[in-house]
Amino acid sequence: MADWTDGYVTDIDYVQAFHRELTPTIHALAAALRGVQAPDPAAPLAWCELGCGPGYAANLLAAANPHLTIEAMDFNPAHVVAARRLARAAGSHNIRFHDDSFEAFAGRTDLPDFDVIALHGVLSWISADNRRWVVEILRRRLKPGGLVYVSYNTLPGWAPILPLRRLLADHAATLTGPTQTRVAAALAFAQRLKAEGIGYFAANPAAADHLDTLATLPASYLAHEYFNADWIPFYSADVAAEMSAAKVTWLGSAQILDHLDYLNVSPGHGEAIADLATSAERETLRDFVTGQRFRRDLFIKGATAVDPGESEAAWDALRVALIVPRAEAPDSVRGLFGAADLRPDIYGPILDALEAAPRSLAELRADPGLAGLDVAVLREAVVVTIAADFVQPCLPVAGLAARAARTDAFNAEVLRQAPYRTELDTLASPVTGGGVLVDHPARLMLLARAQEAEDIPAQVADWLDGAATLADLRVAYERFQSSLLPMLRTLGIGH
Ligand SMILES: C[S@@+](CC[C@H](N)C(=O)[O-])C[C@H]1O[C@@H](n2cnc3c(N)ncnc32)[C@H](O)[C@@H]1O
Repeated sequence: MADWTDGYVTDIDYVQAFHRELTPTIHALAAALRGVQAPDPAAPLAWCELGCGPGYAANLLAAANPHLTIEAMDFNPAHVVAARRLARAAGSHNIRFHDDSFEAFAGRTDLPDFDVIALHGVLSWISADNRRWVVEILRRRLKPGGLVYVSYNTLPGWAPILPLRRLLADHAATLTGPTQTRVAAALAFAQRLKAEGIGYFAANPAAADHLDTLATLPASYLAHEYFNADWIPFYSADVAAEMSAAKVTWLGSAQILDHLDYLNVSPGHGEAIADLATSAERETLRDFVTGQRFRRDLFIKGATAVDPGESEAAWDALRVALIVPRAEAPDSVRGLFGAADLRPDIYGPILDALEAAPRSLAELRADPGLAGLDVAVLREAVVVTIAADFVQPCLPVAGLAARAARTDAFNAEVLRQAPYRTELDTLASPVTGGGVLVDHPARLMLLARAQEAEDIPAQVADWLDGAATLADLRVAYERFQSSLLPMLRTLGIGH
């Protein structure tokens, strides 16, 4: 009989990671771009995460969205212990973690029906039986109108790498001992074969490059990514077919960049894709065209079109915020097909306005620097800034103070751990309801300020213990004060 792990790695905990495609306001934007009615991210939604790992993302979202009730689950009890500890330290009462298998969770009768069910980095790493339990959870628990967010490794993009994973997993299976040691030995074995110029690496340079990348990644990530019993990349049409048993249909990508066709496919290929009859056919051909390796898909149970009048009002009301300092905003955006320069006459005034504070699209339209700009052009420009990951959609202003009290507590806990944990790299914003990536020295500077350290760069140097010079940290702190901290304050982070 199989043990509870079903061949999934459990002797090494998964990395703590936040993925912005889990953010409710991003889901709402993705749905709006497809003209489809979706759950309102400011409403008191019931939200669920399957296979939540150690729960960093679910905890961050619980703090930044106290109006959500979150049920998160993962069958690894060590993950659930870590997740509950963070929830307790952050004072979060709107989240519960369950150490259930998918099968056990599907059978529970004490759960609400959900508006959103999310699973990131799960589907490709579990067995066909467990995939059926996931779909069964969706079938039983998702409300009509509810969203599913699901990410997975994609074919044909992963095809050249499939044998590399087999090589690594087969070698690890011949060894005994902890997963971490077997991972290192398997990588060394593959590196040796690569150096010897074996046929597979010679014929698949992408696999050889990929092996070099693996050497730079943490064992906790590698173990879960490559060394489980199951590792299955999918054609997107096959995922859509499995999902249909839960009465959900493909809505669109949760990665906003994917919505900008001109950056991802050539005009000719765009036409060939558009000519196909179903979204399953279109999305699969698109993956052949782009070579996409990882999809982040949204499905919906019962798609209905947004009323055109409501849609206009919703676009006007959409507030957006800068999540990088103004000076660091890029001047171009790149997709899987090509890049586009961001016209300074359009993007400059938008970024200038956002540097001061988050703005709604209606407010941006009223900005003198943007007077006369076509509404559709402004909308497109704002979507591009979000696609390029330097702007994020916001929650409404109402409720901000209550959210800030919760994100302050969550961020204080994340910062408290910063001196000895580098991986908790995302802080919660009460303005966006999502996460903001803040690098390690900057997190330590926030902590030193919160502790009212007399000499902040010196305190950070002490924590970094030789990893950076005091002179460099003094320069970095100047920059932190002049550009990063003001930006973080517009996001309700750092006082
Ligand atoms: C690759 S990790 C992804 C974790 C997290 N979602 C993230 O992206 O950071 C997959 C997670 O699924 C969990 N898992 C695997 N099989 C499961 C099962 N049958 N029931 C419940 N959880 C499972 C694992 O413990 C692991 O935490």
